[in-house]
Amino acid sequence: MQTNKIPVIAIDGPSASGKGTVAQLVARKLGFHYLDSGALYRLVALKTIQLHADTQNPGAAAEIAIHLNVFFKDEHIYLDDIIVTDAIRTEQCGIVASQLAAYPQVRAALTERQRAFRQLPGLVADGRDMGSVIFPDAVLKIYLTASAEVRAQRRHKQLIEKGMSANIADLLQDIQKRDERDSNRSIAPLQQGIDAKLLDTTSLTISQAQDAVLSWYNDVLAKTRV
Ligand code: CDP
Repeated sequence: MQTNKIPVIAIDGPSASGKGTVAQLVARKLGFHYLDSGALYRLVALKTIQLHADTQNPGAAAEIAIHLNVFFKDEHIYLDDIIVTDAIRTEQCGIVASQLAAYPQVRAALTERQRAFRQLPGLVADGRDMGSVIFPDAVLKIYLTASAEVRAQRRHKQLIEKGMSANIADLLQDIQKRDERDSNRSIAPLQQGIDAKLLDTTSLTISQAQDAVLSWYNDVLAKTRV
C-alpha cells in the first residue's frame, strides 16, 4: 500500500495541553501506531545536554539529530540503548527542546524519522506541525488546547506523579514562555491550521476529549465510505 494512503490523525497543540495522553488513547482504541514527535525534540535536547554541546549552534544540534540513536519499544524510549523515557520529561529538557526546535536544520533532520512512523493500519501523531508540515495529507487534523492555567495544573500533576518536584507558578511562567517561542518562531510555528478542528479541553475530561477525536474520525470514515 502507498504510504500516503495510510490514514493519519494529526493532533497539534501547545505545551502540556494533554494531547499526548489523548493521542495515545485514540491510537490504542483504533489499534494505530503512535508518534510522540515532541519526544524526538526532547531526545535531541537530552543528547545535546549530555554532550555539553552548544545549544546556540544550529549545525551542531542538527548533527546530533541526524545521528540520534533512538529506539521506541512498547512504552519505552531508548537513547544509545539506555531507557530515557522519564529523563526526557524534565522541564530543562523541554526548554532546550523548544530552543533547538526553532532551528530549521534540526527540524529537517527529524522529518523523515517522523514520516517513517506512518505504517499500517494507521498513525496518530502528536506535536506542533503534524498537520501543517509532516503529514499535510492527514485525514483528520486537530488543534488540541486548554487555558495556560489548566495546562500548568496538568503538567504539575504529571511531574509529581513521576516523582519530580514542581511548582505551579513556575510551570505557568514556563508554559507561557514556551507558547510564545513555539508560536512566534519563523519555521513551523504553533498555530491552528485553517483545516484543523479546534478541541478546547479546558473543561473536558481526558475521556471526553478522546471521544471527541474518535467521533470526528468516525465522521471521516463515514464520508470516505460514501
Ligand atoms: O511537553 P510539551 O507538550 O510542552 O512538549 P513536547 O510535545 O514534549 O515537545 C517539546 C518541545 O519540542 C516543544 O516545546 C516544541 O518546541 C518542540 N516541538 C516542535 O517544535 N515540533 C513538534 N512537532 C513537537 C515538539
